[in-house]
Formats: sequence, C-alpha cells, structure tokens
Amino acid sequence: MDSLQMKKDSAINKYRKQRLLNKLMLYSFTSMTCILFLSSPLWYPLLRAFLKSLLFDSLPKIGALFFSSKCIFIVGNLIVIFLVGESKIFKSSKSSSSSSLPSNVVKQNYAADEENGQKNFIFLAAEIFSENVAGKVVIITGASSGIGEYLAYEYARRGACLAIAARRQKSLREVAERALDLGAPDVLVIPADVSKVDDCRTIVDRTMSHFGRLDHLVNNAGMTAVSLFEEIEDISKLRSIMDINFWGSVYMTRFAIPYLRYSEGKIIVLSSSASWMPSPRMSLYCASKAAMILFFEALRIEFGRDVKITLVTPGFVESEMTQGKFINKTGKVDVNPQMRDVQVGITPVVKVEECAKAIVNGACRGERYITVPAWFRVTYLWKVFCPEVVEWILRLLCLTGSGTSPDDSLSKKILDYTGVQKVLYPENIREPELKAE
Ligand SMILES: NC(=O)c1ccc[n+]([C@@H]2O[C@H](COP(=O)([O-])OP(=O)(O)OC[C@H]3O[C@@H](n4cnc5c(N)ncnc54)[C@H](OP(=O)(O)O)[C@@H]3O)[C@@H](O)[C@H]2O)c1
Repeated sequence: MDSLQMKKDSAINKYRKQRLLNKLMLYSFTSMTCILFLSSPLWYPLLRAFLKSLLFDSLPKIGALFFSSKCIFIVGNLIVIFLVGESKIFKSSKSSSSSSLPSNVVKQNYAADEENGQKNFIFLAAEIFSENVAGKVVIITGASSGIGEYLAYEYARRGACLAIAARRQKSLREVAERALDLGAPDVLVIPADVSKVDDCRTIVDRTMSHFGRLDHLVNNAGMTAVSLFEEIEDISKLRSIMDINFWGSVYMTRFAIPYLRYSEGKIIVLSSSASWMPSPRMSLYCASKAAMILFFEALRIEFGRDVKITLVTPGFVESEMTQGKFINKTGKVDVNPQMRDVQVGITPVVKVEECAKAIVNGACRGERYITVPAWFRVTYLWKVFCPEVVEWILRLLCLTGSGTSPDDSLSKKILDYTGVQKVLYPENIREPELKAE
C-alpha cells in the first residue's frame, strides 16, 4: 500500500470517528431537548409554583405567557432546527471535518465534489450505496414546469432515459430538448392528462413500447386550489384536485407496477408538507396530499422490498404553483400572486434546482421520506404536539383583518411593509409569468 493510500485511509478513519462523535452529540442533545420539552407538562407546574413563591404575583403571569409548555416546546423545536439539517453548527462541523483532511487527499479524490461545492465526505457512505440511473428509464408526470421539469434535468444529468408527461405539449418539448443537452440518451414526450385513466395507461404503454423497461415512476403532476371552503359555490368543480393529485398517482402506479416489480424499481411521490400541516383556503389540496401519503404507505407494505417508495413532502418550492397558479373558487385556473403572498407569507421558498437535486439524491439512496427544505420536518412536531397553537398562528396570519380579502391578512401586510419578500422568495416567482399553452 503506498503512502498516499495510507494517508487517505487514516484520513477517512479519522473523519469517520469525528463524524460518529458529532452524530452522537447531536442525537443525545436532540433527544435530551425532546425529553425535556415533552415532559414540560410535568415539571412546568412545579417550576411555576417555585417562581411564584419567589417572585411577585404579576411575574408568573408574564412567565405563563412565555414559558407555557407549548411555547417552550416551540422554542425547543427551533433549537432542534438549528442543530439538525441545515444549521450553521452542523455545517461548520462538516467543514471543519473535511478541512482536517490532508489537502492533497481532498484534492485528488474529491476534486469533482469541490467543483460544485455541494458534496463532501459526509455523504461518502450514502453515495457508495446510491443507485446509478444511467441508462435506466424514468417516467415523470407534470414535467412541463416547476419541480417536474427540474427533476427531468436532474435525471438527465445522471444519464437516465426519460418519458415526460403533462398537458402542455410545447413546454414538454422544450424540457425534452434541454434534457437531451444535459445528457439524457433519449426523451419521450407524452402529452397526457393524468386525471384521465386512459391517458395514464397510454403513458405507461408508450414508455414500455419505446424503451422496453421502466425503473422509476415519479408521480409529480399536481394542482392546488385556493379558496375558503364556504366561498365555493359548485363544489363539484373542484373534484379535479383529487382527480389529479390523488387519482392521477393511483392510476399511474397501477399501470406501472408490473414493470416496476420486474425491474425492482422505485416510485417517487410528490406529496406535500400540507399533508400534515393544515392551511386555510387549501383544505382540498391538504386532503389530497394526505390521502397520497397513506395510500403509498399502505402500498409500501404490499410491495415489500420489491418496489421502494420515496414520499416527498416539500415545504414551499419555486414553481408555477408558488408563482400563484391556483384553481380558484369557480374551478378555473387563475394566477394570483397576492393570494400566494397570503398563503406562503414569510416562509422561505426553496430554489427548484435545490429541491430536484435533493429528491433525486434521496430517491437514488432509497430514502423513504424526503422533506425539502429539511428544517420543515420540525413543523410535523408542531402539528403533533401543539395543534392549537399552529391553528391559532395560521388563523392570525392568513385570515384576520376586516374581511377575508388577501390584502387584509397579517402575512400579506408583513410582507408588504418589511419588503422581506425579496430575501425569502427567489426572483422567478416574484414575476407572475407562466409558460403559455
Ligand atoms: N411548489 C411547491 O411549493 C410545492 C410544495 C409541496 C408540494 N408540491 C407538489 O409538487 C408537485 C409539482 O408542483 P410544482 O410546484 O412544480 O407546480 P407547477 O409548476 O404548477 O407544476 C405542476 C405540473 O403538474 C402538471 N399537471 C397539472 N395538472 C395535470 C394533469 N391533469 N395532467 C398532467 N399533468 C398535470 C403541470 O403541467 P400541465 O399544466 O402542462 O399539465 C405541471 O407540469 C405537485 O404535486 C405539487 O403538489 C409543490
């Protein structure tokens, strides 16, 4: 073994130990924080009684506001956010780990990773077991814009053959051309409406007759409806939400499953964090995304190890949807950036490239759940442990004001007065320009 190899091995071992230690510290801190905050209903009354005996009568009242067990729980979660996922502490531990490696080792073995500045040793083990999709066949529904479009580019970069489907044919062709430029060996364009069962059958049949195999099915096509439930006059006009989001994925999966079983393939499902986090005006969308989660979780049991299922639950991602493209209360597609501002508010919107990359990376590694951005996972804890607080905050931000007009809502006012939108939203979605056709 030459000295460079030995140096490399010792650097990797050192790195692994350091990473294990980091992880151990992170997990113990996280579990301690969770235990502390979960048990807050037990110790909080004691603490309050103690404070009361020590301090003035009025102080515990203020304390009750700030230290109520639920507030403490939220603060605890915020700490966890900073520690887990994308926190600075975690990032600095990553960089300090890699900077402890001899520079020649890093340069020689990870030059490509350094180039794009994205990967480092942290993902080494995961990358080893990651699926190589070069030459494999991937169906992506809803690839004419947004996340689906960028998933196509991400798969193309990895050399996968694509079958892309959506209703807008011209946009699909443009996506296909770019995917070919990026490295996809072959791209099949299939104009289709996934809410129609025959169209879904056609997508799978045409893919099979063209490529002869299927490895990944990405159920991405989706629409959202934004309207107060009581403002919808003809409720049947909003059936399309369930038809596209839920039934579209069900049909596609039914037709694709024999081929996916044969290839031991994967299903990637674009659900949403709205599957657990309720949002006013989006009741139908939330319901459709929640239905997708349980449907595919049940299928996971049926399929076992033969077909892996990755459930993706994004927060807010740059796309036509976050540009303000919704189905309105009359059942028509509308572009309403004001309403978008109300619904998204001061939540940061992730760049679509970043989201697509995280999804394809996670799917190739066989991850069961992916949330982009990672910190959005903490909202699940909020929902489970303090649903009343979540409901109160959302009501306050999205619905209060003299009426239900979007401009009256607090979230819109905060955006308008602070101008924080420029920081939180990518430039593209501030322009309400959508693809034609
Ligand atoms: N953006 C976010 O913040 C976010 C967050 C959570 C989850 N998601 C989910 O991510 C997925 C992609 O949405 P996006 O954000 O990328 O929005 P988008 O830019 O509006 O893309 C939606 C895609 O779905 C296609 N589609 C809609 N109805 C269809 C139908 N009946 N048949 C076939 N294709 C149809 C659209 O193409 P055509 O109009 O050409 O048919 C388009 O390509 C959706 O399932 C959405 O629910 C998005």
